[in-house]
Amino acid sequence: MNRKIIMLLAIPLAIGFSSSQAAENAAKPATKPAANVADRSPEAVVNSKCIECHGTGKAHSPRIGDREEWTKRASKGLDGLVLGATRGHDGMPARGGRPDLTDAEFKAAIFYMFAKSVSEPVKK
Ligand code: HEC
Repeated sequence: MNRKIIMLLAIPLAIGFSSSQAAENAAKPATKPAANVADRSPEAVVNSKCIECHGTGKAHSPRIGDREEWTKRASKGLDGLVLGATRGHDGMPARGGRPDLTDAEFKAAIFYMFAKSVSEPVKK
C-alpha cells in the first residue's frame, strides 16, 4: 500500500521535473513541434509568401537573384533593411504579409532572400 502511494507521488514529481527541464530548454528549437519548425524555416516562409512578389520583382520589389539590387539595399545596413520591411512601405506589406512571424523568423527569411540573391544571382 505504502509503495503504491509513493509511486503515485513520484509521477507528478517526475512530470514536474521534466517540464521544468523543458522550460529551461525552451529557447532551443528541439522543444517545438517538428512540423512547426519545418513550416517556419526561412525557405518555407519565403516560398509561402514572399515569393509572390519577390519571385518576379512584382510592384518593383527586389527580385530574388538580383544581386545588384539586394547589395544596394543591404548597403544601408541589414538592421535598416529589417526595420523597413517589418514596418512595410511602398507596396511592401508590413512583415511581408506574414504578421504571425516572430522578429527572428522574419529576419531569417530576409537573410535567406539576401543570401540567395548574392550567392545565386540570376541574369536579368
Ligand atoms: C505584396 C507583395 C510583397 C510581398 C508578399 C512581400 N514583399 Fe517584400 N517588398 C515588396 C515591395 C514592392 C518592396 C519594395 C519596396 C520599396 O522599397 O520600394 C519590398 C521590399 C522588401 C525588402 C527591402 C526593404 C527595404 O527597406 O529596402 C525586404 C527585406 C522584403 N521586402 C522582405 C520581404 C519578406 C521577408 C517577405 C515575406 C515574408 C516579403 N518581403 C513579402 C513587396 C512584397
